[in-house]
Amino acid sequence: MTGLFITLEGGDGAGKTTQAELLESWLAAQGCTVVRTREPGGTDIGNEVREIVLHSRGHIAPRAEALLYAADRAHHISTKVRPALERGEVVVQDRYLDSSVAYQGAGRVLDAGEIRELSLWAAEGLLPDLTILLDLDEDAARARLDGANKRFDRLEAEKSDFHRRVREAFLALARNEPDRFLVVDAARDAETIAAEVRERVAPLLAASDTTRAR
Ligand code: TYD
Repeated sequence: MTGLFITLEGGDGAGKTTQAELLESWLAAQGCTVVRTREPGGTDIGNEVREIVLHSRGHIAPRAEALLYAADRAHHISTKVRPALERGEVVVQDRYLDSSVAYQGAGRVLDAGEIRELSLWAAEGLLPDLTILLDLDEDAARARLDGANKRFDRLEAEKSDFHRRVREAFLALARNEPDRFLVVDAARDAETIAAEVRERVAPLLAASDTTRAR
C-alpha cells in the first residue's frame, strides 16, 4: 500500500480531536489528500455501533463490547481505510486497535493479548505507520472534560481508577513498540504539541509513496 496510516490515541480529554485537525490542515498544505476518520464510527454502520457501545443504557457484557468495537473496525478498515491507503492517501484516524487493548483490557476481565489478536483479525493485520499517543494524567483529563460541560458517555463516566489503568496500558503499548509510537506530553499547549507531531510525520511523509498535488 502506498498511503500513510496515522492514528491518534490517548485517554478521554487528551486533545486528540484538536491534534487531528491541526495535522490534517498541515498535511493538506503539503499537498496530501487526507482522510480524517475515527473509531468507533467513521462509516454509517460504524455510527450505529457507536450509538450502542457509547450510549446504550445498562450493562454490555465485556466480550460483547469487545466484539462490537471489532465489528466496527472490520467494516471501517475494509470499506474506508484500506481503499484510501491503496489510493496513496493519508489517513488520520482518531483511535484504533490500541484503544481496544487499553480500554477493554483495562476493565481487567479480558486478556490484552486476546483483544489485540481479535482486532488484528478484524482489520486483517493492518497496523498504523505511526501512532501518536497523547499522554495526560487522569486528573488533568477529567478537568478538561468537566470544563467542556458535555454529557459523559459510558466510558467517560468510569471511575478514575479505570482511567489510570487505561493510561498505563497505553504507555506500556508504546514501550513495546517504540518505532510505531510517538508519545507526547499532552499537558502543553496545542501548537507546541502539533509542532512535535509534524517533526515526526515529515520524514515519514518524505519517505512514503503518498500521492501529492505538489
Ligand atoms: P472518542 O470517539 O474518543 O470519544 P469522544 O468523541 O466522546 O471524545 O471515543 C469514544 C470512547 O470509546 C472512548 O471512551 C474510548 C472508547 N473505545 C473503546 O473502549 N474501545 C475501542 O476500541 C475504541 C475505538 C474506543
